[in-house]
Amino acid sequence: MPNIIKAQSEEQFNDIGAGIIASLLQSNPKALLGLATGSSPVGVYGRLVELYKEGSVSFAQAQSYNLDEYVGLPVDHPESYRTFMNEKLFNHVDILAENTHVPLGASPDPAQAAAGYTELLRQAGRIDLQILGVGLNGHIGFNEPGDELQGFTHVVTLDESTRKANARFFSSIEEVPKQAITMGIASILQAKQILLLVRGGEKAEIIARAMQGPVTTKVPASLLQTHPNVIVLADQEAGRLI
Ligand code: F6R
Repeated sequence: MPNIIKAQSEEQFNDIGAGIIASLLQSNPKALLGLATGSSPVGVYGRLVELYKEGSVSFAQAQSYNLDEYVGLPVDHPESYRTFMNEKLFNHVDILAENTHVPLGASPDPAQAAAGYTELLRQAGRIDLQILGVGLNGHIGFNEPGDELQGFTHVVTLDESTRKANARFFSSIEEVPKQAITMGIASILQAKQILLLVRGGEKAEIIARAMQGPVTTKVPASLLQTHPNVIVLADQEAGRLI
């Protein structure tokens, strides 16, 4: 069973999430961090930036590996996940640019870029702490529900529901890329510890199915039930059914 923490307020959610990441970096400054984008971790990253500015945490020796990136957006596009990470975290802390890794969705050969990312992760070794959010359809990374899931980094066609959910960041749904590169389920499950961040009432049902329903490729987050060290950090609304 995952360790479920229900935060009483947004401030507490961010404090707890950032605290888990900061404690890891304090005990293991060379930690390998698996990072997610999306709205769920934004406040946690903001709190981490504050902790860095207060002198409580350093990323100087840490390495980061992001879960996913859109295919076809230039690296410096305002909605690329590389831009997101730079703006929400990397530009404000002492992590070395060369120690941050995001799949190369802008590559002319995304399949090769995905294979290269798998190799990079293999060479890096096990991620110490993997941050995740969950999609309304149960995806983790961009591993969308289906009859089968892929183990390693691969190119994926995004569900229409995912494109719709992410259209809020673009001027229209047509602009949301149709494909992404994502770490696969095996890579995610290899992490030593997983921190799943869930916010908002619209996630209550899917997180309950993922944590308490059957383990199935139709709800990729349900595979987290097979991992021995998962923390689910939920706000009151998202956590109301678990
Ligand atoms: C982001 C990612 C996605 C999101 C998920 C939830 O890197 O891999 O799985 O975590 O779509 O997104 P938000 O947090 O925006 O609800």
